[in-house]
Order: sequence, then C-alpha cells, then structure tokens
Amino acid sequence: MSEGLKKVYIETLGCQMNKSDSERIYGILSHFNYIPCEDENEADFCVVNTCSIRKLSEDKAYSKLGVWGKIKKERPLKIGICGCVAQQEGENLLKRFPYVDLVFGTQNIYELPQLFNNEGRICAVRENPIKENDFNIIRSKSLNAWLPIIEGCNNFCSYCVVPYTRGRERSREPQRIINEAKSILKQGFREITLLGQNVDSYGKDLPDKPTLAYLLRQIDALEGDFRIRFTTSYPTDITDELIDTVKNSKKICECFHIPMQSGSDRVLKAMNRRYDRKTYGEIVKKIRDNIKDVTITSDFIAGFPSETREEFEMTLSAFDEFELDYSNTAAYSPRPKTPAAKWVDKYVDENEKKERLAILNDKVKEMSLKSNEKYVGRVLEVLVESYKNGKFEGRTRNNKVVHIEANDINVGDFVDVKITKASTWCLFGEYKN
Ligand code: SAH
Ligand code: SF4
Ligand code: F3S
Repeated sequence: MSEGLKKVYIETLGCQMNKSDSERIYGILSHFNYIPCEDENEADFCVVNTCSIRKLSEDKAYSKLGVWGKIKKERPLKIGICGCVAQQEGENLLKRFPYVDLVFGTQNIYELPQLFNNEGRICAVRENPIKENDFNIIRSKSLNAWLPIIEGCNNFCSYCVVPYTRGRERSREPQRIINEAKSILKQGFREITLLGQNVDSYGKDLPDKPTLAYLLRQIDALEGDFRIRFTTSYPTDITDELIDTVKNSKKICECFHIPMQSGSDRVLKAMNRRYDRKTYGEIVKKIRDNIKDVTITSDFIAGFPSETREEFEMTLSAFDEFELDYSNTAAYSPRPKTPAAKWVDKYVDENEKKERLAILNDKVKEMSLKSNEKYVGRVLEVLVESYKNGKFEGRTRNNKVVHIEANDINVGDFVDVKITKASTWCLFGEYKN
C-alpha cells in the first residue's frame, strides 16, 4: 500500500438514498487518501450511515457503534455516524457515545473535507447545507448505478420521520444529473436508477420546472445499451406524461413502485396520505392499461394506531383488487416528532401487530408467486447480473430475478430467456442461442 493511505469502512443501513450517499462519502474521502475497505477490523475510520424509519433501524446503528467502541479500546480508530439518525439526534450522540469522533447530518456530506481534518469531536447537523460539488463518487461494484435526482420530502405522512431527517424537497439541476448519467454509462454500468423519496416531485422547486418525464427522456436518448429505473412514486403525483414516457421509451423499465400504505380510506386519512382507495385503483388501472407487463409494487404498514381488524383486512383485499406484484411490509413503529407517535392511546397491541404483519407477509408471498407464474412459457429479456456456483442470475425489465440455464453468456449481456418455471421470489429459464 502506498505511503499515507488509510482505510475507511462504511456500514450502510436503510434505503437506496443512503447507499448513494455512502458512495459519495467514499468518493469525498478518497481525496484525503482514504480508500474503501470491506472489513471493519482493518479500517482506520469506521462510519455508520444510519436509517431512522423504524425504531429497529435506529437500534441497529447503536449496536454497530458499540462494536466499534470495543475495537477502539484495543487500537486507534476514528468513529463516525451520519445519515438519518445523525440528523435526528445530533449532539446527543456525542454525549451518549463518548468514543464517537464525528457526527454529520444528511445535508452535510459536502462539508466533510472541512470537518474531517478538525481536531476534537465534532457534530455538524445543519439545515443550510453547502452546495454539492465535483468530488469523486466511488460506486459499489454492480451493474446498476444509483442516481439521486431529488432529496427530501414535503408530504409529512403522520407516521414518517423522513421529512425531519431529510428536510424539504430539493431537486438537483437537470444538467448535473444528465452529466452524471453520461459518466455512469462511460464506466460501463448497464442500469441507472433515478432516486428520490418522491421522484414525481422532481423539478417543482427549480426555475424551469423540468419534470421527471423530461429527465427520463433525456437519459433515454443517451447512446448505449442500458436500462433506466426510477423510485419511489407517490400515487397521485404520477402524471399522464410519465406514463406516456415509460410507454414510448425503449430503455425505461416497466416498473412502478407506488406505496399504498393501507387499503382503508379512514386509515389513509389518518396517515395524511392524499388519496383514497378508489383513486389509487384508478392510477394502477391507467398504468396497466397503457403499459404491457408492468410490475406494480407497494409498501404497506400493519398496525397503524387505531387500525381495526376490518381495516387491516381492507389492506389484504387491496392486494387482490389491484393485483399488486409485490410489497414491502412493516409493523408500525412510533417515530420522534411524528404526529402518530403521540396517539399512544390508540396503539395496536404488539402481539396483534405481529400477527397482522405475518398475515401481510403471507399475502405478499401469494401475490408474488401469482405474478411470477404469469410469465411461465414466455420469452423475456434478461440482463445477466451475476455468475455464482455455476449458475447465471439476472433480472427482467419488470424486475423479476431469473436463474438462467446457459453456457455461452456473460455478465452484462442482455439475453432472451425462455421462462420454464416460477417460484415465489424468482423465475427459472433457459437461454438458447
Ligand atoms: N416516500 C415513500 C416511502 C419512504 S419510507 C412513500 O411515500 O411511500 C419507506 C417505507 O417505510 C414507507 O413506505 C412506509 O411503508 C415505511 N414506514 C415509514 N414510516 C414508518 C413507521 N413509522 N413505521 C413503520 N413503517 C414505516
Ligand atoms: Fe415519508 Fe410520506 Fe414522505 Fe414517503 S411521502 S417519505 S412516507 S412522509
Ligand atoms: Fe431510512 Fe432515511 Fe432512507 S430514515 S429509509 S435512510 S431516508
């Protein structure tokens, strides 16, 4: 190893936005002679990039700090914490964890160069961040590159901590995003995923009001063989322009992630979601009517305060009514600053909540199998993503994992695969030249 090089290890918890932030943090630190390492035991600097969406995610971050605190008793180690828990807790973290050296918030990543070389223990959690700049980005080794387009959220759903940890919506300049897409393609990535807490809000805060659909069309027009994805969509913000753009493009994949959260209108209202069940259904129908083989996935919460058993069952029936292909699920967890956390008297009993979550997960399995079975006998385009233990694995445009029987294909190829079998979480198929 060359003189002066040090190693940094980042433990990334939470959503894709955190994954993308960690790639940027690795990149910034590379300007200060830090190279990424995959083993915390070898690192000079360990950082946990945290998530606060549920209590469980927050606790994971603290247990990681505990492990590093022990290592620090044996040898020199710099310890940092960033991301959504850092934004939420700020200075408290320095008090609670005496071995932590650096706390920085979700909007303070570009301040790292100043913070980093300072003496003493530092906390930088501010809401007036310095602008992003042209530091390196060290992307994780895969065929897919995360490309953030908008950060923050203005929706304030009553259960959700994100508006407090990520701040208000801020869109990145379109030209910056397009240039980043070009550089991603130059590096050989085969897929670009546009990221945002609400991608449909893209551009509303910019002078020319560029839309998500506009951005997608610009990226679709770039040279090369690649796929484009985008996530997450807010149901009522999905526009006809977006649906048309996905329909008419070659590279944008047929997938919409549209969290519904509950199948009950009363619960949706209490959640402060801006749609009802009927409206959600109309949006799903419009997408399905226009886009062949589209996959529609969702998020649902089980045991929201005051949710009755009947209301929970409406969530189950929503799966059938809207033929959802898959959903993330979570048991409701009270979060700091959120209105719902104050409704203590309405909390659903823990056992009941667990039971509802288990039922919800069974429903997801049933729907996923049903969705996969539709494709048996069909020939689908698959991007070959990995080769492990003599088997190729890839994904279809509509995001289904496929185990491929093949000899003469390579990771990174787009191949047509005949689907022979479906299971709950994946498809099996054969490639014949
Ligand atoms: N912006 C997206 C979701 C981002 S958070 C949207 O509007 O849907 C990701 C998911 O975490 C949410 O969809 C929700 O299902 C879940 N979630 C958020 N807060 C939660 C809480 N307090 N308890 C349980 N699940 C929660
Ligand atoms: Fe959270 Fe709602 Fe914003 Fe999604 S839209 S990030 S659930 S507040
Ligand atoms: Fe978690 Fe923050 Fe993402 S709370 S889900 S890491 S925006």
